Amino acid sequence: MFGRERIELKTPDQVRVMRRAGLVVADALAAVRGAVRPGLTTRDLDVVAAEAIRSAGATPSFLGYMDYPATICVSVNDEVVHGIPGDRVLQPGDIVSIDCGAIVDGWHGDSAITVVLPEADPADVALSDITERAMWAGIAALATADRLGAVGDAVEDVVEAAHAAGGPGLGIVQDYVGHGIGSAMHLPPDVPNYRTRERGPKVRPGMCVAIEPMLVRGDQRTRVLADDWTVVTEDGSRASHWEHTVAILEDGIWVLTAPDGGAERLAELGVAVAPLD
Ligand code: MF3
Ligand code: CO
Repeated sequence: MFGRERIELKTPDQVRVMRRAGLVVADALAAVRGAVRPGLTTRDLDVVAAEAIRSAGATPSFLGYMDYPATICVSVNDEVVHGIPGDRVLQPGDIVSIDCGAIVDGWHGDSAITVVLPEADPADVALSDITERAMWAGIAALATADRLGAVGDAVEDVVEAAHAAGGPGLGIVQDYVGHGIGSAMHLPPDVPNYRTRERGPKVRPGMCVAIEPMLVRGDQRTRVLADDWTVVTEDGSRASHWEHTVAILEDGIWVLTAPDGGAERLAELGVAVAPLD
């Protein structure tokens, strides 16, 4: 965790290209969100995302990454991340996490959403809502943080506060973490979603990171299926994954995979986004 590797710092112009990649990912996820319903296969969702990315003139980043065979990851119910699209037919009440990445002119964007299909179990809706809120709290922390460890503190604070307020006690997956991103999808530094003793590297202008909490309704331990990709909870509990790619700029932060740069959600948390234009 928090290795000492060199962190790639971007110029404002490079961040602007990353925003183009981020907006392609946002559009692709919006298309999938609009299409997803019971009766479709997870492969159908992959086709929707692939068409959105290609029609924008961008390149999917997951396809071929370490031989990954699809454009997106679709992780259903007890699947946490890296579910491979295929013949699985989506059922009413499924909780579906969709993760997507794209490349524009060599620069990457990476984002994930969770959708709960009707007839939704309210406990699954709560799981997704708390995971999304935890993601935004982690993003907001970047605006004021001295060190990257503040992200995990903020995520864990949201999970603890939800529990203390009478909500569910959720597990925070520790086997997978957020990451630096830019000229490649996965770059140093690691960004844990939980409190750590190490405070991590300094938060500096030019850093771009993917903030991606994965929360579960049971124990946080995971295992990988025989396909060598799909990550499931050990105890079979359901999972949610939300992710955004975020830039730290001289004057503040900008969420590169959100159409409004995160302005609306961050304003609720008292954070103003930095103008990128
Ligand atoms: N988007 C995932 C992440 O956030 C990576 C997907 S792995 C791939 O790190 F192989 F599917 F590309
Ligand atoms: Co990621």
